[in-house]
Amino acid sequence: MTAQLIDGNALSRTLRTEVAARAAALKARGVTPGLAVVLVGENPASQVYVRNKIKACEDNGLHSVLEKYPAELSEAELLTRIDALNDDPAIHGILVQLPLPKHIDAQKVIEAISPEKDVDGFHVASAGALMTGAPGFWPCTPYGCMKMLESIGYDLRGKHAVVIGRSNIVGKPMALMLLAKNATVTICHSATPDLGAMTRQADVIVAAVGKRNVLTADMVKPGAVVIDVGMNRNDEGKLCGDVDFDGVREVAGFITPVPGGVGPMTITMLLVNTLEAAERSAH
Ligand code: GUN
Repeated sequence: MTAQLIDGNALSRTLRTEVAARAAALKARGVTPGLAVVLVGENPASQVYVRNKIKACEDNGLHSVLEKYPAELSEAELLTRIDALNDDPAIHGILVQLPLPKHIDAQKVIEAISPEKDVDGFHVASAGALMTGAPGFWPCTPYGCMKMLESIGYDLRGKHAVVIGRSNIVGKPMALMLLAKNATVTICHSATPDLGAMTRQADVIVAAVGKRNVLTADMVKPGAVVIDVGMNRNDEGKLCGDVDFDGVREVAGFITPVPGGVGPMTITMLLVNTLEAAERSAH
């Protein structure tokens, strides 16, 4: 059996069309949803991500501002900028691109963002809201993964989901979102002794470690749904995920490709969160 692809580009196009329509409706009421993206330093990958986020805003009727600062910017100066953006009524979402230079305490900067504008969902208030089921912003990458499962009509109730990776940005929030949909959830990580023994029991596997070939065909139950959050380069320099795609697609029921899977969904959910922030502020 060859797995069906879950196409993140196609799903993103559908969701972004909805975002654009909602943004236009809000604009007609005098509120243009606005996102501020803050980039400190010259990290080449961050520059690409940020450019894509700004372009996605422009393409879908959201206002965006890019604030670029040299790597030498002090933590105090950055915090002052965050305060100003918190007070700016034209800005509904604030995103500080990570990683930040070493002399800046990233968590301190994230906590300075007003939770009402925390469209990345990284603030402790957002994390607490997700944990308790209160309204708040969900981190964009795991949120996008949930939308991909929703798009295939997958009912998580009673299913066993295995998340590989325990980061604050993906693994931990992913596990909470799956749990909220009544899955039985296992989180695996670098100290898990036998990863395959865990993943072979899974109906759904989310791979989010940032390492090639973490999941191979022998580790997957036939028919399982495999979501690949990884973003790596293979020996030829081509983009690849954490999953051995060619092998696993012969065993899985559904699989997300890299590129064209979770990546575009992350940006799409950023647009959704920003729009949601603007709609909340308008009410
Ligand atoms: N760096 C890598 N991924 C992300 C993300 O989703 N948000 C931010 N702010 N920085 C990142």
